[in-house]
Amino acid sequence: MIVAIDGPSGAGKSTVAKAAAKRLGFSCLDTGAMYRAIAWKALADGVSFDDVEALGAIARDNEIEFGHVEGDPVPRRVFISGTEVTDAIRTSEIDRAVGPVAAVPAVREALVAQQQRIGRAGDYVVEGRDIGTVVFPEAPVKVFLTASAEERATRRVKQNEERHVGSTNYEEVLADIKKRDEIDSSRAASPLKPAEDAVHLDSTGKTIEEIISFICLRAEQ
Ligand code: CDP
Repeated sequence: MIVAIDGPSGAGKSTVAKAAAKRLGFSCLDTGAMYRAIAWKALADGVSFDDVEALGAIARDNEIEFGHVEGDPVPRRVFISGTEVTDAIRTSEIDRAVGPVAAVPAVREALVAQQQRIGRAGDYVVEGRDIGTVVFPEAPVKVFLTASAEERATRRVKQNEERHVGSTNYEEVLADIKKRDEIDSSRAASPLKPAEDAVHLDSTGKTIEEIISFICLRAEQ
């Protein structure tokens, strides 16, 4: 069983997906972390973002895996070909690099295949941009989670402060979120858009608990 959660940057997908998975006893898959890992690898290998062939090869040739911190059921650790990149993929540099990398069709094709392999192995809450439309169009529960850009920027600053990574400058984060929204929704390959059968949830002014309860109720029906 797959619960698909899609939506723009900072709408609260990660928090909601992890908590819903925990409550449902499902695993969870953060597909954004996979695009981030490819962007990290491209930067580490000095591959130009114009070189779509090389970017596609990185996504095809490197397996992305998730791991647990002891005692935590949520798989928060991220590895690419065995190298841990959990913190390295959360920097402002990667925030800026990931949009162009995720726009490359060959990258998406390879990662969608990896995501389908992972998700088909069990019960998963999967979060991303194209889960309900492309990766798991057959998912019985699909949520499109949004919030205003300002609310998303405020949350992201708080998250970065807590994690001690990424920018904590509100204006900078807001500008980045708006830029990424534009890249994600205007790209030719799998633009961000809700699946026709997705339930739209605007998290502005709602508590995380309200959103999680709604999703779990749907999944348990
Ligand atoms: O954390 P945040 O919501 O900002 O982004 P993320 O979920 O970590 O995803 C990072 C980037 O990967 C997004 O801005 C998209 O460009 C891309 N992405 C995608 O294209 N398709 C997905 N299924 C997941 C992420």
